[in-house]
Amino acid sequence: MNIALNQINCFYGQHQALFDINVSYDTSETIVLLGPSGAGKSSLLKVFNLLEKPTSGKMTIANTTYDFTQPIADDKISRLRKNVGMVFQNYNLWPHLTVMENLIEAPCQVLGMQKTIAKQKAAGLLARLHLSGFDDRFPLHLSGGQQQRVAIARALMMEPQILLFDEPTAALDPEITSQVADIINELSVSGITQIIVTHEVDFAKKVASKVIYMENGHIIEQGDASCLSSPKTAQLKAYLSH
Ligand SMILES: Nc1ncnc2c1ncn2[C@@H]1O[C@H](COP(=O)(O)OP(=O)(O)O)[C@@H](O)[C@H]1O
Ligand SMILES: [Mg+2]
Repeated sequence: MNIALNQINCFYGQHQALFDINVSYDTSETIVLLGPSGAGKSSLLKVFNLLEKPTSGKMTIANTTYDFTQPIADDKISRLRKNVGMVFQNYNLWPHLTVMENLIEAPCQVLGMQKTIAKQKAAGLLARLHLSGFDDRFPLHLSGGQQQRVAIARALMMEPQILLFDEPTAALDPEITSQVADIINELSVSGITQIIVTHEVDFAKKVASKVIYMENGHIIEQGDASCLSSPKTAQLKAYLSH
């Protein structure tokens, strides 16, 4: 088991966004988080790298356990973020840096990697994501699909055990969406555990090994990918039929 959440509750001020969340997963699963807008999908995703800190419960991830009834030390959070990467919804690439500079920034600054080694590694990832030749482009001079792949390459530079995606296909056309699905499936084969928020059911079907369906901060149904073809709850059935 490499990820477990136990009785996680999360608040924004007085507003409770997550209620008693319990999940547990093995390495290299691809977990898809589905649910209507406001269900708490992004909040739950951000718990996995502690961009949101629960008020109670426990999390085990990347061989470390966090007990949220105790204060969490900053060094424990930065250790977690080295192992749990995030690909943001709007890509969050640095606009004033080229593709290559975007990729090598964190490994050089945070991990102290040598620039020549970082560049070699970046070149390999760019080739793997079909972005060779784009090293010197600025993000604004790339299509949405290319920016998304640069964002994935940038996250992979840190060699995360776990990669989080928030709506990775939100702004992409169907052909590019299908390329992103291929990339996610390749990463899964290479052993990375991925957790993906989406509201696109067809995309979910292409990548999911596990499914979480949420409404109003609660997990309504969870299980393996067969949930998507034979849902057990009326709520997931209704969601899938929209
Ligand atoms: N930073 C925040 N401050 C206050 N409330 C928030 C914040 N982020 C999300 N929420 C609220 O928490 C609930 C869940 O939001 P979110 O996790 O973004 O849902 P989803 O990603 O499923 O659309 C919503 O009611 C939302 O309005
Ligand atoms: Mg969201």
